[in-house]
Amino acid sequence: MNQENRGSFGSKIGAILAAAGSAIGLGNIWRFPAEAGSNGGAAFILIYILFTLFIGIPVLMSEFVIGRRGKGDAYGSFRNLAPRTPWKIIGFISVLSSLLILGYYNLVAGWSVNYIVEAGINDLAGKTPQDYADGFYAFISHPIRPIFFLLVFVALTHFIVAMGVQKGIEKASKIMMPLLFFILIALAVVVLTLPGAGQGVHYLFDVDFSKITGKVLLEALGHAFFALSVGMGCMITYASYFKSDTDIMKTSLSVSLSGVLVAILAGLIIFPAAIPLGIETESGSALVFITLPNVFTQAFAGSPALAYISALAFYILLAMAALTSTISLYEAVVAFVHENLKLSRKVSCWIISAICFLLGVGASMAMGQWNEIKLFGFNFFDVLDKFTANILIPISGLGISLFVGWYMKKKDVLDEISNHGTLKATYFKAFYFLLRYVIPLAIILILLFQLGFFNLFL
Ligand code: PHE
Repeated sequence: MNQENRGSFGSKIGAILAAAGSAIGLGNIWRFPAEAGSNGGAAFILIYILFTLFIGIPVLMSEFVIGRRGKGDAYGSFRNLAPRTPWKIIGFISVLSSLLILGYYNLVAGWSVNYIVEAGINDLAGKTPQDYADGFYAFISHPIRPIFFLLVFVALTHFIVAMGVQKGIEKASKIMMPLLFFILIALAVVVLTLPGAGQGVHYLFDVDFSKITGKVLLEALGHAFFALSVGMGCMITYASYFKSDTDIMKTSLSVSLSGVLVAILAGLIIFPAAIPLGIETESGSALVFITLPNVFTQAFAGSPALAYISALAFYILLAMAALTSTISLYEAVVAFVHENLKLSRKVSCWIISAICFLLGVGASMAMGQWNEIKLFGFNFFDVLDKFTANILIPISGLGISLFVGWYMKKKDVLDEISNHGTLKATYFKAFYFLLRYVIPLAIILILLFQLGFFNLFL
């Protein structure tokens, strides 16, 4: 497509907020505390931060390089940079993983809207722990209710993306991201003043090295990728809208650090409230929907108003974080359809919305009536999650690091990162070394792990 007609972010801060919005999502708030809880708390967090620094950031920078230099959607950027080679398959895999992730991500995001409503009408207050669990499972396995909220969420994403890059995506990020930080910090402050909060803080920060196992390493890497939104084409697509003077290294650092910060703040909201009460924090993905309402009710037993506000603010936060992420996933797919199949942006949006809705219905039914329909032992929801997180994303991460580290010319990569020599590109050597050797090896090891290769030896 004519490159002049492509959208672009209006400001550098708009670009950072949009990319940070993509990174900060259900991954940091819904998934992170649960993963940390079941993988040794601080040990997991430490490894996740190290992986973010040494693996996530270089891959994120590479996506930015590919997108801004390739000036296309994820598939088109690879095609523009490496015409007539199979590299574009990596772009296609990323777009496909975005679409499949949307299949379940929209659904969970819709759950959070349901909880906004329940918190809003004060229906979450004063129940027993069992009630919260029963309520959650009854809701997600209901044949209609979650599908209604799924539709609400798909529609929200649809209308923002259909408005375009600057008027839709950038504007929404500029409004939602500051609000999100404000709510997070306010909630963390409130929780940290609770009696016994120190116990939860220790849980988050006291590293017990004996807890670092192969499984922890594996999950932390998967999480670092997911939480940075790398391997899904979103960041390539967003970078294609960056202006030529956007500093790629600085933007990657800001995005990654805000992601880590949000994850830690989310941890500081959940653990210091839950641990002194002896509430189990290892309940997996249901943590924020079952444990948290319970935590707010019990922790603020003396002050129902505070319990009400905290619960409501938390679910609004969760929904906003999810929305800035679904926007980016959606944009990656829409840009692909729009630019390669030559359909208008509006028509592309409608097609993607329809597919997302259908996938979401499938994922929702998998929580209820269709739970018994399994592929490789997983229901449809888990297939979407596991297939993308464990297979497609690492493959595309590997492809991206090999492409920038080995296929592209070193001087072109440096040219892009230094904005044609106008920036110093201080850490370029370290970045390049990690990208060429450490990262591909790490990802290959992890993929082999996932495919059960090491079980032969363990
Ligand atoms: N990074 C987002 C999160 O943490 C999820 C996401 C993945 C968003 C991939 C966009 C692309 O929830």
